[in-house]
Amino acid sequence: TEHFTISQSMSNQKVLITAGPTYESIDPVRFIGNHSTGKMGFALAENCLKRGAEVVLVTGPTQCKLSHSRLTRIDVQSANEMYTAVHEHFSGCNGGIFSAAVSDYRPNQIAEQKIKKSQDKMVVEMVKNPDILKSIGAVKKQNQWLVGFALETNDALKYGAEKLKKKNLDLIVVNTLQDKGAGFGFDTNKITLLDFNNKTTKFELTTKKEAAKNILDYLLTIKK
Ligand code: CTP
Ligand code: CA
Repeated sequence: TEHFTISQSMSNQKVLITAGPTYESIDPVRFIGNHSTGKMGFALAENCLKRGAEVVLVTGPTQCKLSHSRLTRIDVQSANEMYTAVHEHFSGCNGGIFSAAVSDYRPNQIAEQKIKKSQDKMVVEMVKNPDILKSIGAVKKQNQWLVGFALETNDALKYGAEKLKKKNLDLIVVNTLQDKGAGFGFDTNKITLLDFNNKTTKFELTTKKEAAKNILDYLLTIKK
């Protein structure tokens, strides 16, 4: 087991973490999803547990495994299910880290029966999902802290700063798919942290476990 200094301990903290992709059903056998593996969220949960925190992990479909006496794992499929679980648990937590790759849209209708390949073209109408992180940013209490992620392909810091503000975050983890070996499916990440004071901290390419440690080390130095 690792030892942390008092300021780096989370033994008095209960943390909500979102992880993984969401699956948005089209019909009983099909869905629209994304390439998120859940690794980053699970690494964050593991690091919080190491520091003594109690963790509620709300995760979309993933192969990742984690079990611990202080861990409550809630498995969900869709963004709407994730929204409900998050709103049920956040008020009882000291803070949250939102690393899930939530689908921005879902099919407007879920066909009751399997859709047959009767036509040459098929159009799926999509409607917007709720922004779970933004909705929590709008209701978080003074003493609750909030960390978000921003996945960008271009103008990462500009978009990251906008999301930090719009979602009422204390810290945002910016990662760009431009960096080779970073992001979906990889075991590594290249992150930049942007805090509410507009301070930017860049990290080299690291494993997701190391990235999780860096994120929490940083959070615990800025958090009141
Ligand atoms: N997020 C969320 N609920 C959504 C969409 C995003 O909770 N419906 C969270 C993600 O978990 C992440 C942050 O919001 O912590 C930013 O997600 P991202 O996809 O980068 O940004 P969006 O706000 O969805 O904007 P866009 O995809 O247009 O860049
Ligand atoms: Ca998005």
